[in-house]
Amino acid sequence: MNHFDVQDQANHPRCETPAIQTLIDMRLGRRQWLGAGAAGLVSFLAGESLAQSASSSLPPASPSSRLASGPRIGFQPIAANSLDTITLPEGYQWQTLASWGDAILPGGTSFDPLTRGSSVTQSLAIGDNNDGMSFFSLGPNHGVMVINNEYANYEYLFPGGKCQSLEDTRKAQAAHGISVFEVRRSGGKWKLQTQARLNRRLTANSSLRLSGPAAGHDLLKTASDPSGMQVLGTFNNCANGRTPWGTYLTCEENFNGYFGSAEALSDNPAFNRYGISAKGAGYNWYPFDERFDLSKNPNEPNRHGWVVEIDPMDPTSTPIKRTALGRFKHENAEVVVNADGRVVVYMGDDEKGEHVYKFVSNKKFDRKNLANNRDLLDDGVLYVARFSAAQGQSAGEGEWLELTHGKNGLTEQAGFKNQAEVLIHARMAATVVGATTMDRPEWVAAHPTLPQVFVTLTNNSDRGVKANQPLNGPNPRAKNVYGQIVRWSPVNGDHTQHKFNWDIFVLAGNPSKHQDTYRGSANISADNMFNSPDGLAFDREGRMWIQTDGDYSNAKDFEGMGNNQMLCAHPITGEIKRFMVGPVACEITGIAFTPDHKTMFVGIQHPGERLIASHFPEGGNSVPRSSVVAITRRDGGVIGS
Ligand code: FEO
Ligand code: CA
Ligand code: CA
Repeated sequence: MNHFDVQDQANHPRCETPAIQTLIDMRLGRRQWLGAGAAGLVSFLAGESLAQSASSSLPPASPSSRLASGPRIGFQPIAANSLDTITLPEGYQWQTLASWGDAILPGGTSFDPLTRGSSVTQSLAIGDNNDGMSFFSLGPNHGVMVINNEYANYEYLFPGGKCQSLEDTRKAQAAHGISVFEVRRSGGKWKLQTQARLNRRLTANSSLRLSGPAAGHDLLKTASDPSGMQVLGTFNNCANGRTPWGTYLTCEENFNGYFGSAEALSDNPAFNRYGISAKGAGYNWYPFDERFDLSKNPNEPNRHGWVVEIDPMDPTSTPIKRTALGRFKHENAEVVVNADGRVVVYMGDDEKGEHVYKFVSNKKFDRKNLANNRDLLDDGVLYVARFSAAQGQSAGEGEWLELTHGKNGLTEQAGFKNQAEVLIHARMAATVVGATTMDRPEWVAAHPTLPQVFVTLTNNSDRGVKANQPLNGPNPRAKNVYGQIVRWSPVNGDHTQHKFNWDIFVLAGNPSKHQDTYRGSANISADNMFNSPDGLAFDREGRMWIQTDGDYSNAKDFEGMGNNQMLCAHPITGEIKRFMVGPVACEITGIAFTPDHKTMFVGIQHPGERLIASHFPEGGNSVPRSSVVAITRRDGGVIGS
């Protein structure tokens, strides 16, 4: 094993036993422990009768259900609150690791609360709004963190709250992208290493490369890049993924809002579908940087909305936008190595009524020579999900529909001249093939050993309201303010199969306010309720961590839920316990572990957004700053166990 192999085994272990064998072993070896619910789950996973599993795979949390197999969730759950700090279970502690504005490159200066920095200091410091992240271990007390900086809170970035000049534009652009920085532990505390060798910033102005089937297509060419291969910038980097060959995937989400135009634009169906308009979303870059002016550079937005692969171990490497994974508002990229060695990437497109996708590589993962995997994500097949169910059923079958030019109606007559156009306009291709509209697909997470995949569907005020978004099986509630988590299992445990079975793992809700379906599923109670699940990840023992980006008003439909939070779910029993409550007006997003799972890193995004009073993390009268925190147990144990 070379360096990368060792690191990856430690950081992201995946069972090499074919998943279906694991299931059979579980069923035979642990039968005495299986209650009816868990037995139903095994049927579900093994692709047996759906009618049986639908009714039995989600038992309510109860003392007896804790006897079922699976991970131990050993902490005492905490109550909701609206405090301006982090709350954790008894026996846990947290520290701030890094915050927006902390210098990481030579020449950087410490965060200035009066000016909030300049374009230059920001480009040498951690960006704003940390989101998805990964920790790459370099030893027991040393590692490199890679974090997405999704967007910027202008109300804090600029003392005047607005982007009003080229300097402001450059500063905002530098607050976006990715921050890479080494961390070390000494005296029990993790510390950011300023000016370490691997430290790096990628911003909305960094040089990147396009690769894969769409690279070089006419729709990706601009006046400054007639090749259609060289791109400036990555921005609105939402969640992430990591590959077993040691790279980091960053996902470009709401890229559309950065573009605008002083001139009216002619009607453009692709712009309409992707939300690209003359008005923009208020970032106001286009008056000062014509790359973002749609009337001057109408193809520039086609160069964004991709998954980008970054080598965190080489700060001089050029990040690559992998067009084979399709262009949409990418949330995260969950990588699974299938039993046959092909690599599957599951992805959500976060917008009301958009879809869930998967990519299957043509080539197999090479465990022996990791360098051979470097272009694996350029060559493969993209699919989009269709979920089927009889009316009123919360489980059913599903199918992955291939997004390949010439198949499933993806023809020139339908508006796609070639595969590049299918990928650039993946959303429109998904509609042509008949994909299911979903309630804003956010993170997808695959169980570390079982063939189960989960997706958070955060909420959808248009469900049952807009004609193109009628109620359907996995999205069963009109004006869905709470969200749900849907689970699927590929037939025969094979992630490359076209067929899957699905069910609803949890419907979030408020049982103190509602008695109908908005009370939530049986595994929701007044003690663990939450809204708008977003971040989702498994630890190596199979605990599923749910992070929320929801309404923190603690009033009306959301009364009793408090601030945004993180919960821990047992994927087999369905039990859910609240683990963490974040500070005022934040979102909890981004999660990573050290290889021993004794430190968990979590992202606190936009505390105090919209000038709601927060002083996290420094307290007093300090400016609130998005931060990464490190969570440990006082007894040094494994988080969650
Ligand atoms: Fe960036 Fe869909 O959250
Ligand atoms: Ca998110
Ligand atoms: Ca969200």
